[in-house]
Parts: sequence; structure tokens; C-alpha cells
Amino acid sequence: MAEPTAFELDQTGKIDLTDIYDRPDPRHYYRTLAKLDYRIPAAAEPLFRAAIAARRALRGERPMTVFDVGCSYGVNAAILKQGVDLSDLFALYGTVGPDSRRELVARDRAFFAARDGDPDLSVIGLDTAENAVSYACDAGVMDGGIVADLELRPPSERQAALLADADLVISTGAIGYVGAPTFRRILDHTDAAPWFALFALRMFPVDAVADVLKERGYEVFRLAGKTFRQRRFASREEAAEVHANLADLGIDPVGRESEGWYHAEFTFARPAADAVPDPVARLAPV
Ligand SMILES: C[S@@+](CC[C@H](N)C(=O)[O-])C[C@H]1O[C@@H](n2cnc3c(N)ncnc32)[C@H](O)[C@@H]1O
Repeated sequence: MAEPTAFELDQTGKIDLTDIYDRPDPRHYYRTLAKLDYRIPAAAEPLFRAAIAARRALRGERPMTVFDVGCSYGVNAAILKQGVDLSDLFALYGTVGPDSRRELVARDRAFFAARDGDPDLSVIGLDTAENAVSYACDAGVMDGGIVADLELRPPSERQAALLADADLVISTGAIGYVGAPTFRRILDHTDAAPWFALFALRMFPVDAVADVLKERGYEVFRLAGKTFRQRRFASREEAAEVHANLADLGIDPVGRESEGWYHAEFTFARPAADAVPDPVARLAPV
């Protein structure tokens, strides 16, 4: 396991990464997460793509809007829309680049514009980190962004208009910071009965989010028997806190968190009326 770092633990027992979430550019974010072997956006990609393909097949339409909850600097948009790997992003931001944000934005705009991505996919992101959202929009990674805390209050009119067209709501690494209030407010302001494809750490059960979805006529599924490595624990102290949290929840860490990694689970939800064959294998009703 990695040696202890200078990180503080937050109230959930995770190292406190808030310092890297809202810097003017993404370098500190990607460099820190690369050191921790962060990998959930890469692990999530095939399941997000499967959900996008299934939704397109059902609706008979190609253009789609993905809404990324806790989007940060647009990592899922870069992967899904621009066809960039997480390792490419770690490389892009791991090397010495231009000094100023302006020059970095210009470099990245050119980089992403040259990608042969999915022109029919729009990605709108939600995050409380204003710098991260504006960087992702300025660099052309995302098509739009909402800086808001939907845990606390509803979106403004302008923000609600950006939410309205969401076809698929995704999330990696953000559940725990966000929960049922955010998803209730998303459902309040979407017009296209979006599907949901969500990754959440095992220590942050999605039961309350699933209840909100079920209240609104959704069927909720979990990928049975499969978990996904999110990142390594940063320290023995963090591992001990997480093991204690899991013990409180009655979750056995053996073979997963006991190996030094956070593990996430995948939850998928769609309106009962969209009863298509499962977009991913081994989904079990929750
Ligand atoms: C671990 S990062 C994950 C970012 C990205 N999805 C990824 O996988 O790399 C968690 C993100 O959640 C954001 N966040 C924290 N509280 C939030 C809230 N109430 N609403 C939306 N985003 C929030 C943070 O600013 C941060 O960008």
C-alpha cells in the first residue's frame, strides 16, 4: 500500500481532496489522482457506452445529451465524447505545459478539437467547483456546465434549461458528496425521462437515491457480483477509516478493500416504460 501522505481525512474517512477540485486548471487534479491510481472513469466507460448505445437503439435517435454529476474538469466527457483515455489525460496534464491558464486552455482546445470523437454526444456537467467547470467548457471538453450545489437548492432558471434535455445521467466518484436531494432536483427539471448510470463507492450506499428514482416510476438495477476499483487508499489511516465504515454497514472488505483499494458498484435505472433488454449483462433489480 502507498505510504502515508500529507492529506487530511474528511468526515467520511476519505483523504480530503477538496484542495485539488477547484484549481484554475486541471494539472493538480490529474497529477494527484494519477499518484493514487485513480481509475473509475476508465472502468466506467464500457458501461456508459453500453447505456448510450441502448438508449440510442430504443429512441431511434443518435444525438444524445449526457449529464455528468460531479463532472470536475470533464473527465467523463473527454473519454465518452472526445475518445480520450484516462491515461491520455494523465499524460496530457502530467508533463510540463504552458504556464498560464489562458495558454493551457488554448493548447487543450486545439487538442480536443482535433479528436475524432462522437459529434452526436453533448455532455453537460454539474459541479460545485466553478474553476473546474469553466475550464472544461473553455477547453471544449464539455458542451455546457452548471456550477451549483443541488444538495442545498434547486437550479436557477438558466441552469434548469441546461438540465432539461438530459437523456442519460452519469456519475463517477461524486456520490457521497451528492445524494438523494441532487437526484430529486435533477428529476424535477428533466423533460426526456433520462436513464441513470451511476458508480458509487461501497461505503456510500445508493439506497436513498434508488428510493427517489423508484418514487418517480423508475426500475433500478445493480450489476450483480461485480465491483470496480476506484483508486488506491492513500494511507493506512485512510484504509482503517474505510474498513471501519464498511464494518458499520456490514460490508465484508475481504478480497476488495482489504487489498488496498476503494471499490465502487454500478447502479442503472430507467423508467419502467423503457423495458428494453438490459444494456449490460447481469443487472439485478434493487
Ligand atoms: C472525486 S471527484 C470526481 C470527479 C470526476 N467525476 C472523476 O471521476 O474524476 C468529486 C467531484 O464532486 C464534486 N462535488 C462535491 N460536492 C458536490 C456537490 N454538492 N454537487 C456537485 N458536485 C460536487 C467535487 O467538486 C469533485 O469535482
